[in-house]
Amino acid sequence: MKAATVVPGRPESAGVSDLPEPSPDAGELLVDGLLAGSCATDHDVVHASHGALPPGQDRLVLFHESLGRVRHAPAISGFAEGDHVVGVVRRPDPEPCPACAAGQWDFCLNGGYTECGIKELHGFGSQRWTIEPRFAIKVPASLGDAGVLTEPASVVAKAWEQAELIGRRAYYAPRHALVTGAGAIGLLGALLGVQRGLDVHVLDRMTEGPKPELVRRLGATYHTSLDDLGCEPDVVIEATGAGEVVFDVLRRTARNAITVLTGIAGHDRTLPIPAGAINDELVLDNDVVVGSVNANLRHYQLAVRALAEADQSWLGDLINRRVPLSSWTDVLTRQDTDVKPVVDLRA
Ligand code: BGC
Repeated sequence: MKAATVVPGRPESAGVSDLPEPSPDAGELLVDGLLAGSCATDHDVVHASHGALPPGQDRLVLFHESLGRVRHAPAISGFAEGDHVVGVVRRPDPEPCPACAAGQWDFCLNGGYTECGIKELHGFGSQRWTIEPRFAIKVPASLGDAGVLTEPASVVAKAWEQAELIGRRAYYAPRHALVTGAGAIGLLGALLGVQRGLDVHVLDRMTEGPKPELVRRLGATYHTSLDDLGCEPDVVIEATGAGEVVFDVLRRTARNAITVLTGIAGHDRTLPIPAGAINDELVLDNDVVVGSVNANLRHYQLAVRALAEADQSWLGDLINRRVPLSSWTDVLTRQDTDVKPVVDLRA
């Protein structure tokens, strides 16, 4: 079978490999790959800043955002042939880790976790893959291709959950939400905000392309400058990872605001910031800033529910570039109009 593979950190190695057909271990599902979604993390794995080969292997099967159809399921697996499934990205640390042991591998304490298509485990960019049922998420076939949005939506579901859990520390009745960045994470973040009945504002630098209209169709408000916001957000889902945006936002939030950071943009960037003023603002306003990465099973289930309740035509429009497996490396070159580029594993 064909697979999208790479040696992490060696972009020239990215290509299509012929790999042996996978054979499921006892109890595992055998899955036909349908789509693999692409995001900035894939770019980072290919270009070195992130990612590691599976031990003893000379290539990594790329892609952690998946959608597949079950080809074979053991009788007691809870799955049946034809089910649409998504693979959980992170797997618990094989060394004892109390958070992983409690099913909270997204809060792994010792960093020994593995991640499919990123860190030491093969991903889902192949024509077939196998998976233990406990790490497979059933998605309604009615979602169609939008099922591939389950993994990014799980990351966003965790981010919203973090805001809500922290909100319980005191009286908290958020009205205005700000989402920074209108990529797939930002747009899905905005969707979950609208589903919560909030007045949602989305910031992005693009003035053209599909993003302004996708935000408008959600019933949210699109901005290209924070100066035009017209409100102080009670909750922020930050999805740019850009220091300039992060620290600007922190000075514009309402009292008792919660800002959830989900983006990363490189460790080596420095930026002059008014650190003292930001400190005072955080203290005097009881503001919280929290980082959020990855997702556990509960967040995948929340994601499936949110996607199922969304306008299906809007969701479908997030997937706005398709590349066949034979030329998958094209997804690594970002285009300005990209929202969620996907690799078609059947083509
Ligand atoms: C993935 C997460 C993963 C993170 C860090 C993100 O792109 O969606 O599942 O934990 O990268 O590797």
